Amino acid sequence: MGDHAYQQCINPQCAATFDLRDVLSECPTCGNLLDAQYDWDRMPVPDSLSFFESRWASRRHPLDFSGVWRFRELIPFAAEDEILTIGEGQTMLKRSDKLAPYVGLKPGSLFLQYEGLNLSGSFKDNGMTGAFTHAKMVGAKTAACASTGNTSASLACFAAASGLLDAVIFVGSGKIAYGKLSQALDYGGKTIQIDGDFDDAMARVQEACKETGMYLMNSLNPFRLEGQKAIMFRVLEGLGWDPPDWVICPGGNLGNSSAFGKAFIELHRLGLITKIPRIAIINSTGADTLTRIVNDHGLTWNDGHVDDTVIDNFFTLMDEQNRRAKTIASAIEINRPVNLKKALRTLDFTDGVVRAVSDQDILDAKAMVGRCGIGCEPASAASVAGAKLLRLEDVIGPDERVVCILTGHQLKDPNATVHYHSLPPEELAKKMTDYQIQVATHQNRPIPATNDLDSILKAIEEK
Ligand code: F0G
Repeated sequence: MGDHAYQQCINPQCAATFDLRDVLSECPTCGNLLDAQYDWDRMPVPDSLSFFESRWASRRHPLDFSGVWRFRELIPFAAEDEILTIGEGQTMLKRSDKLAPYVGLKPGSLFLQYEGLNLSGSFKDNGMTGAFTHAKMVGAKTAACASTGNTSASLACFAAASGLLDAVIFVGSGKIAYGKLSQALDYGGKTIQIDGDFDDAMARVQEACKETGMYLMNSLNPFRLEGQKAIMFRVLEGLGWDPPDWVICPGGNLGNSSAFGKAFIELHRLGLITKIPRIAIINSTGADTLTRIVNDHGLTWNDGHVDDTVIDNFFTLMDEQNRRAKTIASAIEINRPVNLKKALRTLDFTDGVVRAVSDQDILDAKAMVGRCGIGCEPASAASVAGAKLLRLEDVIGPDERVVCILTGHQLKDPNATVHYHSLPPEELAKKMTDYQIQVATHQNRPIPATNDLDSILKAIEEK
Protein backbone atom coordinates (compact mmCIF):
# COMPACT_ATOMS: atom_id res chain seq x y z
CA MET A 1 0.00 0.00 0.00
CA GLY A 2 1.06 3.59 -0.40
CA ASP A 3 2.54 3.08 -3.89
CA HIS A 4 -0.67 4.09 -5.59
CA ALA A 5 -1.60 7.03 -3.39
CA TYR A 6 -1.04 10.70 -4.16
CA GLN A 7 -2.44 14.15 -3.37
CA GLN A 8 -4.74 16.05 -5.69
CA CYS A 9 -6.32 19.50 -5.84
CA ILE A 10 -10.11 19.34 -5.44
CA ASN A 11 -10.65 22.05 -8.09
CA PRO A 12 -11.39 20.14 -11.33
CA GLN A 13 -10.07 23.02 -13.45
CA CYS A 14 -6.69 22.55 -11.77
CA ALA A 15 -6.70 18.91 -10.58
CA ALA A 16 -2.93 19.13 -10.09
CA THR A 17 -1.42 16.06 -8.46
CA PHE A 18 1.38 15.93 -5.92
CA ASP A 19 3.55 13.28 -4.37
CA LEU A 20 2.21 11.49 -1.33
CA ARG A 21 5.18 12.65 0.73
CA ASP A 22 4.90 16.35 -0.11
CA VAL A 23 3.92 18.37 2.95
CA LEU A 24 1.16 20.67 1.74
CA SER A 25 -1.89 22.29 3.24
CA GLU A 26 -3.18 23.80 -0.01
CA CYS A 27 -2.64 23.37 -3.72
CA PRO A 28 0.58 25.23 -4.61
CA THR A 29 -0.84 25.89 -8.08
CA CYS A 30 -4.26 27.39 -7.32
CA GLY A 31 -4.59 27.55 -3.51
CA ASN A 32 -7.54 25.17 -3.22
CA LEU A 33 -7.86 22.26 -0.80
CA LEU A 34 -6.14 18.93 -1.40
CA ASP A 35 -7.42 15.36 -1.17
CA ALA A 36 -5.55 12.13 -0.63
CA GLN A 37 -6.36 10.09 -3.74
CA TYR A 38 -5.76 6.52 -4.81
CA ASP A 39 -5.47 4.42 -7.97
CA TRP A 40 -8.15 2.12 -6.60
CA ASP A 41 -7.94 -0.18 -9.61
CA ARG A 42 -4.40 -1.09 -8.61
CA MET A 43 -5.17 -1.66 -4.95
CA PRO A 44 -6.48 -4.69 -3.09
CA VAL A 45 -9.99 -3.67 -2.01
CA PRO A 46 -12.33 -6.24 -0.43
CA ASP A 47 -15.47 -7.25 -2.37
CA SER A 48 -17.73 -6.60 0.59
CA LEU A 49 -17.65 -4.52 3.77
CA SER A 50 -18.28 -7.66 5.81
CA PHE A 51 -14.65 -8.60 5.04
CA PHE A 52 -13.67 -6.23 7.86
CA GLU A 53 -15.40 -8.43 10.42
CA SER A 54 -12.48 -10.86 10.07
CA ARG A 55 -10.39 -8.27 11.94
CA TRP A 56 -12.45 -8.73 15.11
CA ALA A 57 -10.71 -12.06 15.69
CA SER A 58 -7.21 -10.58 15.61
CA ARG A 59 -7.56 -7.63 17.97
CA ARG A 60 -4.19 -8.34 19.57
CA HIS A 61 -2.60 -6.94 16.41
CA PRO A 62 -2.50 -3.13 17.01
CA LEU A 63 -3.64 -2.31 13.48
CA ASP A 64 -6.63 -4.63 13.79
CA PHE A 65 -7.41 -3.19 17.24
CA SER A 66 -7.48 0.37 15.91
CA GLY A 67 -10.98 1.51 14.96
CA VAL A 68 -9.36 3.36 12.07
CA TRP A 69 -6.71 1.02 10.67
CA ARG A 70 -8.75 -2.14 10.74
CA PHE A 71 -10.29 -0.50 7.67
CA ARG A 72 -6.83 0.18 6.22
CA GLU A 73 -7.73 -1.05 2.70
CA LEU A 74 -10.06 1.98 2.54
CA ILE A 75 -7.37 4.40 3.82
CA PRO A 76 -4.45 2.99 1.86
CA PHE A 77 -1.79 5.68 1.91
CA ALA A 78 0.69 4.07 4.30
CA ALA A 79 2.56 0.78 4.50
CA GLU A 80 1.68 -1.19 7.62
CA ASP A 81 5.03 -0.49 9.28
CA GLU A 82 4.57 3.25 8.75
CA ILE A 83 1.23 3.48 10.54
CA LEU A 84 1.15 5.21 13.91
CA THR A 85 -1.69 4.08 16.13
CA ILE A 86 -2.34 4.59 19.83
CA GLY A 87 -5.52 2.52 19.93
CA GLU A 88 -7.96 5.19 18.68
CA GLY A 89 -11.52 4.58 17.54
CA GLN A 90 -12.84 2.19 20.22
CA THR A 91 -16.24 3.83 19.96
CA MET A 92 -19.79 2.58 19.65
CA LEU A 93 -23.06 3.07 17.86
CA LYS A 94 -25.81 3.04 20.44
CA ARG A 95 -29.49 2.75 19.60
CA SER A 96 -31.36 5.22 21.79
CA ASP A 97 -35.05 4.48 22.12
CA LYS A 98 -35.14 6.81 25.10
CA LEU A 99 -34.02 9.85 23.08
CA ALA A 100 -36.00 8.97 19.94
CA PRO A 101 -39.32 10.54 21.09
CA TYR A 102 -37.51 13.81 21.98
CA VAL A 103 -36.27 14.01 18.42
CA GLY A 104 -39.66 12.94 17.05
CA LEU A 105 -38.62 9.51 15.86
CA LYS A 106 -40.03 6.06 16.49
CA PRO A 107 -38.21 3.61 18.77
CA GLY A 108 -35.53 1.80 16.79
CA SER A 109 -34.92 4.76 14.46
CA LEU A 110 -32.36 6.87 16.36
CA PHE A 111 -28.71 5.92 16.85
CA LEU A 112 -25.93 7.82 18.58
CA GLN A 113 -22.34 7.34 17.41
CA TYR A 114 -20.44 8.09 20.60
CA GLU A 115 -16.99 9.40 19.67
CA GLY A 116 -16.36 10.66 23.20
CA LEU A 117 -14.90 7.23 23.91
CA ASN A 118 -11.68 8.00 22.05
CA LEU A 119 -8.47 8.29 24.07
CA SER A 120 -8.53 12.06 24.14
CA GLY A 121 -12.32 12.12 24.46
CA SER A 122 -13.33 13.30 20.99
CA PHE A 123 -13.59 12.18 17.36
CA LYS A 124 -10.35 14.03 16.58
CA ASP A 125 -8.27 10.95 17.39
CA ASN A 126 -9.60 9.26 14.23
CA GLY A 127 -7.96 11.94 12.13
CA MET A 128 -4.90 12.46 14.29
CA THR A 129 -3.71 8.90 13.68
CA GLY A 130 -3.87 9.62 9.93
CA ALA A 131 -1.95 12.88 10.22
CA PHE A 132 0.63 11.38 12.60
CA THR A 133 1.17 8.51 10.20
CA HIS A 134 1.87 10.96 7.39
CA ALA A 135 4.07 13.08 9.70
CA LYS A 136 6.07 9.93 10.49
CA MET A 137 6.36 9.11 6.78
CA VAL A 138 7.86 12.54 6.04
CA GLY A 139 10.06 12.67 9.16
CA ALA A 140 8.39 15.73 10.75
CA LYS A 141 9.78 16.85 14.11
CA THR A 142 7.30 19.45 15.37
CA ALA A 143 3.58 19.64 14.70
CA ALA A 144 1.21 22.54 15.26
CA CYS A 145 -2.50 23.22 15.19
CA ALA A 146 -5.03 25.92 15.96
CA SER A 147 -7.90 24.64 17.98
CA THR A 148 -11.15 25.25 19.79
CA GLY A 149 -9.80 22.60 22.16
CA ASN A 150 -10.32 19.07 20.93
CA THR A 151 -7.80 19.06 18.10
CA SER A 152 -5.21 20.42 20.52
CA ALA A 153 -6.05 17.78 23.14
CA SER A 154 -5.76 15.06 20.52
CA LEU A 155 -2.52 16.40 19.03
CA ALA A 156 -0.92 16.71 22.47
CA CYS A 157 -2.15 13.22 23.39
CA PHE A 158 -0.68 11.61 20.24
CA ALA A 159 2.57 13.54 20.63
CA ALA A 160 2.94 12.40 24.23
CA ALA A 161 1.90 8.80 23.59
CA SER A 162 4.06 8.32 20.51
CA GLY A 163 7.07 10.45 21.43
CA LEU A 164 7.34 11.14 17.71
CA LEU A 165 6.88 14.90 17.65
CA ASP A 166 6.73 18.02 19.77
CA ALA A 167 3.26 19.57 19.87
CA VAL A 168 2.67 23.33 19.56
CA ILE A 169 -0.88 24.44 20.11
CA PHE A 170 -2.55 27.75 19.23
CA VAL A 171 -5.76 28.52 21.11
CA GLY A 172 -7.87 31.66 21.47
CA SER A 173 -7.32 33.05 24.95
CA GLY A 174 -10.34 32.23 27.17
CA LYS A 175 -11.99 30.51 24.22
CA ILE A 176 -11.60 26.85 25.06
CA ALA A 177 -13.42 24.70 27.58
CA TYR A 178 -11.47 23.77 30.70
CA GLY A 179 -11.55 20.02 30.14
CA LYS A 180 -9.76 20.50 26.82
CA LEU A 181 -7.24 23.07 28.06
CA SER A 182 -6.41 20.80 31.00
CA GLN A 183 -5.70 17.94 28.60
CA ALA A 184 -3.30 19.94 26.41
CA LEU A 185 -1.40 21.11 29.51
CA ASP A 186 -1.32 17.69 31.13
CA TYR A 187 -0.10 15.95 27.96
CA GLY A 188 2.73 18.47 27.82
CA GLY A 189 1.79 20.37 24.65
CA LYS A 190 3.37 23.81 24.25
CA THR A 191 0.21 25.90 24.51
CA ILE A 192 0.17 29.39 23.00
CA GLN A 193 -2.83 31.43 24.12
CA ILE A 194 -3.48 34.01 21.44
CA ASP A 195 -5.29 37.22 22.14
CA GLY A 196 -8.01 36.41 19.59
CA ASP A 197 -10.49 33.72 18.60
CA PHE A 198 -10.20 30.45 16.66
CA ASP A 199 -10.33 32.19 13.28
CA ASP A 200 -7.36 34.33 14.34
CA ALA A 201 -5.46 31.32 15.71
CA MET A 202 -6.08 29.41 12.47
CA ALA A 203 -4.65 32.24 10.38
CA ARG A 204 -1.59 32.59 12.67
CA VAL A 205 -0.78 28.88 12.80
CA GLN A 206 -0.70 28.69 9.00
CA GLU A 207 1.71 31.63 8.91
CA ALA A 208 3.87 30.08 11.65
CA CYS A 209 4.00 26.71 9.87
CA LYS A 210 5.05 28.38 6.60
CA GLU A 211 7.73 30.35 8.43
CA THR A 212 9.19 27.54 10.54
CA GLY A 213 8.39 24.31 8.67
CA MET A 214 6.24 22.95 11.53
CA TYR A 215 3.89 20.21 10.32
CA LEU A 216 0.26 21.46 10.26
CA MET A 217 -2.19 19.12 11.98
CA ASN A 218 -5.42 21.02 11.27
CA SER A 219 -8.02 19.49 8.99
CA LEU A 220 -6.50 21.30 6.01
CA ASN A 221 -4.21 18.30 6.23
CA PRO A 222 -5.76 15.73 3.86
CA PHE A 223 -4.46 12.79 5.91
CA ARG A 224 -6.44 13.91 8.99
CA LEU A 225 -9.61 13.60 6.98
CA GLU A 226 -8.60 10.15 5.70
CA GLY A 227 -8.66 8.87 9.29
CA GLN A 228 -12.00 10.54 10.00
CA LYS A 229 -13.61 8.49 7.19
CA ALA A 230 -13.42 5.56 9.62
CA ILE A 231 -16.21 7.06 11.75
CA MET A 232 -18.56 6.31 8.86
CA PHE A 233 -17.11 2.81 8.41
CA ARG A 234 -17.89 2.08 12.06
CA VAL A 235 -21.40 3.54 11.75
CA LEU A 236 -22.05 1.16 8.86
CA GLU A 237 -20.53 -1.70 10.83
CA GLY A 238 -22.81 -0.88 13.78
CA LEU A 239 -25.82 -1.10 11.45
CA GLY A 240 -24.77 -4.43 9.93
CA TRP A 241 -23.48 -2.63 6.80
CA ASP A 242 -26.96 -1.32 5.99
CA PRO A 243 -26.56 2.46 5.49
CA PRO A 244 -28.86 4.75 7.52
CA ASP A 245 -31.12 7.33 5.89
CA TRP A 246 -29.39 10.21 7.66
CA VAL A 247 -26.08 11.05 9.29
CA ILE A 248 -26.21 14.26 11.33
CA CYS A 249 -23.11 16.03 12.56
CA PRO A 250 -22.17 19.40 14.04
CA GLY A 251 -20.35 21.74 11.67
CA GLY A 252 -17.37 23.85 12.79
CA ASN A 253 -14.29 23.85 10.60
CA LEU A 254 -16.19 21.30 8.45
CA GLY A 255 -13.50 18.62 8.47
CA ASN A 256 -15.77 15.87 9.74
CA SER A 257 -18.56 16.45 7.27
CA SER A 258 -15.96 16.63 4.48
CA ALA A 259 -14.45 13.32 5.54
CA PHE A 260 -17.86 11.65 5.81
CA GLY A 261 -18.77 12.73 2.29
CA LYS A 262 -15.46 11.43 0.92
CA ALA A 263 -16.04 8.11 2.67
CA PHE A 264 -19.40 7.69 0.96
CA ILE A 265 -18.11 8.87 -2.42
CA GLU A 266 -15.38 6.22 -2.29
CA LEU A 267 -17.54 3.41 -0.88
CA HIS A 268 -20.07 4.04 -3.63
CA ARG A 269 -17.45 4.19 -6.34
CA LEU A 270 -15.94 0.92 -5.08
CA GLY A 271 -19.37 -0.74 -5.19
CA LEU A 272 -19.33 -1.36 -1.42
CA ILE A 273 -22.58 0.57 -0.83
CA THR A 274 -25.45 1.36 -3.17
CA LYS A 275 -27.54 3.56 -0.88
CA ILE A 276 -26.00 6.90 0.08
CA PRO A 277 -27.03 8.37 3.46
CA ARG A 278 -28.04 12.03 3.45
CA ILE A 279 -25.73 14.17 5.57
CA ALA A 280 -27.09 17.05 7.64
CA ILE A 281 -24.55 19.58 8.92
CA ILE A 282 -25.65 21.56 11.96
CA ASN A 283 -24.21 24.95 12.91
CA SER A 284 -24.97 27.01 15.98
CA THR A 285 -26.86 30.22 15.08
CA GLY A 286 -23.89 32.05 16.64
CA ALA A 287 -21.44 30.58 14.09
CA ASP A 288 -23.50 29.89 11.00
CA THR A 289 -21.38 30.68 7.94
CA LEU A 290 -22.23 27.43 6.15
CA THR A 291 -25.95 27.80 6.82
CA ARG A 292 -26.03 31.34 5.51
CA ILE A 293 -23.81 30.80 2.51
CA VAL A 294 -25.72 27.71 1.37
CA ASN A 295 -29.31 28.48 2.35
CA ASP A 296 -29.33 32.27 1.86
CA HIS A 297 -26.67 32.81 -0.81
CA GLY A 298 -27.27 29.60 -2.78
CA LEU A 299 -23.61 28.52 -2.85
CA THR A 300 -23.18 24.98 -4.23
CA TRP A 301 -20.42 22.59 -5.23
CA ASN A 302 -21.39 23.07 -8.89
CA ASP A 303 -19.28 20.12 -10.12
CA GLY A 304 -16.28 21.61 -8.37
CA HIS A 305 -16.64 25.04 -9.97
CA VAL A 306 -17.51 26.77 -6.69
CA ASP A 307 -18.31 30.46 -7.12
CA ASP A 308 -15.42 32.10 -5.23
CA THR A 309 -16.95 35.56 -5.50
CA VAL A 310 -19.88 34.49 -3.27
CA ILE A 311 -17.37 33.33 -0.63
CA ASP A 312 -15.17 36.43 -0.96
CA ASN A 313 -18.15 38.79 -0.71
CA PHE A 314 -19.50 36.89 2.29
CA PHE A 315 -16.24 37.19 4.22
CA THR A 316 -15.70 40.83 3.18
CA LEU A 317 -19.11 41.75 4.57
CA MET A 318 -18.44 39.71 7.70
CA ASP A 319 -15.21 41.66 8.27
CA GLU A 320 -16.90 45.01 7.55
CA GLN A 321 -19.58 44.21 10.12
CA ASN A 322 -16.89 42.84 12.48
CA ARG A 323 -19.04 39.74 12.98
CA ARG A 324 -17.34 37.27 15.32
CA ALA A 325 -18.45 33.73 16.08
CA LYS A 326 -20.16 33.42 19.48
CA THR A 327 -21.70 30.23 20.81
CA ILE A 328 -21.87 28.19 24.01
CA ALA A 329 -20.81 25.26 21.80
CA SER A 330 -17.23 26.55 21.88
CA ALA A 331 -15.95 23.63 19.78
CA ILE A 332 -17.82 25.00 16.76
CA GLU A 333 -17.29 28.71 17.46
CA ILE A 334 -15.85 29.24 13.98
CA ASN A 335 -16.85 31.75 11.31
CA ARG A 336 -14.28 30.92 8.62
CA PRO A 337 -14.47 27.16 8.13
CA VAL A 338 -11.39 26.09 6.20
CA ASN A 339 -13.05 23.04 4.65
CA LEU A 340 -16.02 24.96 3.26
CA LYS A 341 -15.60 23.69 -0.32
CA LYS A 342 -15.20 20.05 0.67
CA ALA A 343 -18.35 20.35 2.79
CA LEU A 344 -20.18 21.65 -0.31
CA ARG A 345 -18.99 18.51 -2.12
CA THR A 346 -20.43 16.38 0.69
CA LEU A 347 -23.79 18.19 0.51
CA ASP A 348 -23.88 17.73 -3.24
CA PHE A 349 -23.03 14.01 -3.26
CA THR A 350 -25.27 13.06 -0.34
CA ASP A 351 -28.21 15.36 -1.11
CA GLY A 352 -27.41 16.91 2.24
CA VAL A 353 -28.87 19.82 4.14
CA VAL A 354 -27.56 22.53 6.48
CA ARG A 355 -29.31 24.08 9.44
CA ALA A 356 -28.45 26.29 12.41
CA VAL A 357 -29.85 25.68 15.90
CA SER A 358 -29.87 28.08 18.85
CA ASP A 359 -27.65 27.68 21.90
CA GLN A 360 -30.81 27.21 23.94
CA ASP A 361 -31.77 24.21 21.79
CA ILE A 362 -28.22 22.88 21.95
CA LEU A 363 -28.08 22.92 25.77
CA ASP A 364 -31.57 21.43 26.12
CA ALA A 365 -30.66 18.63 23.69
CA LYS A 366 -27.40 18.09 25.58
CA ALA A 367 -29.30 17.64 28.85
CA MET A 368 -31.53 15.06 27.16
CA VAL A 369 -28.50 13.15 25.86
CA GLY A 370 -27.20 13.12 29.43
CA ARG A 371 -30.52 11.74 30.70
CA CYS A 372 -30.02 8.82 28.35
CA GLY A 373 -26.86 7.85 30.20
CA ILE A 374 -24.41 8.88 27.51
CA GLY A 375 -23.58 12.56 27.84
CA CYS A 376 -21.76 14.80 25.42
CA GLU A 377 -20.31 18.28 25.16
CA PRO A 378 -22.45 21.17 23.84
CA ALA A 379 -21.24 21.10 20.21
CA SER A 380 -22.06 17.40 19.93
CA ALA A 381 -25.64 18.01 21.01
CA ALA A 382 -26.11 20.28 17.98
CA SER A 383 -26.55 17.05 16.00
CA VAL A 384 -29.48 15.99 18.22
CA ALA A 385 -31.02 19.49 18.19
CA GLY A 386 -30.58 19.50 14.41
CA ALA A 387 -32.29 16.11 14.05
CA LYS A 388 -35.21 17.42 16.11
CA LEU A 389 -35.49 20.52 13.92
CA LEU A 390 -35.32 18.54 10.67
CA ARG A 391 -37.97 16.15 11.99
CA LEU A 392 -40.21 19.12 12.89
CA GLU A 393 -39.77 20.45 9.36
CA ASP A 394 -40.59 16.94 8.08
CA VAL A 395 -37.33 16.93 6.12
CA ILE A 396 -36.60 13.76 8.09
CA GLY A 397 -39.50 11.32 7.87
CA PRO A 398 -40.91 9.59 10.98
CA ASP A 399 -39.73 6.13 9.85
CA GLU A 400 -36.26 7.09 8.69
CA ARG A 401 -33.14 5.76 10.39
CA VAL A 402 -31.02 8.55 11.79
CA VAL A 403 -27.49 8.53 13.18
CA CYS A 404 -26.38 11.54 15.24
CA ILE A 405 -22.64 11.88 15.76
CA LEU A 406 -21.77 12.71 19.38
CA THR A 407 -18.37 14.19 18.68
CA GLY A 408 -17.03 14.85 22.19
CA HIS A 409 -17.24 13.60 25.76
CA GLN A 410 -19.54 15.08 28.42
CA LEU A 411 -16.58 15.98 30.68
CA LYS A 412 -14.93 18.23 28.09
CA ASP A 413 -16.94 21.26 29.20
CA PRO A 414 -18.09 20.83 32.80
CA ASN A 415 -18.78 24.55 33.24
CA ALA A 416 -21.54 24.62 30.62
CA THR A 417 -23.16 21.58 32.22
CA VAL A 418 -22.93 22.76 35.81
CA HIS A 419 -24.19 26.27 34.98
CA TYR A 420 -27.15 24.85 33.07
CA HIS A 421 -28.16 22.52 35.87
CA SER A 422 -27.42 24.59 38.93
CA LEU A 423 -28.15 28.29 38.30
CA PRO A 424 -31.51 29.84 39.23
CA PRO A 425 -33.34 31.22 36.14
CA GLU A 426 -32.35 34.92 36.45
CA GLU A 427 -28.74 34.08 37.16
CA LEU A 428 -28.63 31.61 34.29
CA ALA A 429 -30.07 34.16 31.87
CA LYS A 430 -27.54 36.73 33.11
CA LYS A 431 -24.57 34.38 32.98
CA MET A 432 -25.55 33.20 29.53
CA THR A 433 -26.81 36.48 28.15
CA ASP A 434 -24.26 36.37 25.29
CA TYR A 435 -25.78 33.08 24.18
CA GLN A 436 -29.43 34.10 24.62
CA ILE A 437 -30.16 31.23 26.94
CA GLN A 438 -33.31 31.97 28.91
CA VAL A 439 -34.20 28.83 30.73
CA ALA A 440 -32.77 25.40 31.52
CA THR A 441 -35.72 23.31 30.34
CA HIS A 442 -34.28 20.03 31.60
CA GLN A 443 -32.53 21.39 34.66
CA ASN A 444 -31.49 19.04 37.49
CA ARG A 445 -30.57 21.40 40.32
CA PRO A 446 -28.45 20.27 43.24
CA ILE A 447 -30.44 20.58 46.48
CA PRO A 448 -28.69 22.26 49.40
CA ALA A 449 -28.98 20.57 52.81
CA THR A 450 -27.48 21.31 56.20
CA ASN A 451 -25.30 18.66 57.72
CA ASP A 452 -27.98 16.79 59.67
CA LEU A 453 -30.18 13.81 58.84
CA ASP A 454 -33.55 15.63 59.01
CA SER A 455 -32.48 18.21 56.51
CA ILE A 456 -31.02 15.51 54.23
CA LEU A 457 -34.22 13.43 54.40
CA LYS A 458 -36.25 16.53 53.55
CA ALA A 459 -33.98 17.17 50.57
CA ILE A 460 -34.49 13.58 49.39
CA GLU A 461 -38.30 14.01 49.58
CA GLU A 462 -38.24 17.34 47.70
CA LYS A 463 -40.02 17.30 44.32
N1 F0G B 1 -17.69 18.70 17.71
C1 F0G B 1 -16.60 18.84 18.46
C2 F0G B 1 -16.65 18.29 19.84
C3 F0G B 1 -15.46 19.50 17.97
O1 F0G B 1 -14.39 19.64 18.73
C4 F0G B 1 -15.49 20.04 16.66
C5 F0G B 1 -14.34 20.76 16.12
C6 F0G B 1 -16.66 19.85 15.92
C7 F0G B 1 -17.73 19.18 16.45
C8 F0G B 1 -16.75 20.36 14.53
O2 F0G B 1 -16.08 19.52 13.64
O3 F0G B 1 -14.54 21.19 12.66
O4 F0G B 1 -14.85 18.95 11.66
O5 F0G B 1 -16.67 20.65 11.55
N2 F0G B 1 -13.34 21.11 16.78
C9 F0G B 1 -12.14 21.69 16.21
C10 F0G B 1 -11.05 21.80 17.25
C11 F0G B 1 -12.33 22.87 15.38
O6 F0G B 1 -10.17 22.67 17.12
O7 F0G B 1 -11.03 20.99 18.16
P1 F0G B 1 -15.49 20.11 12.29
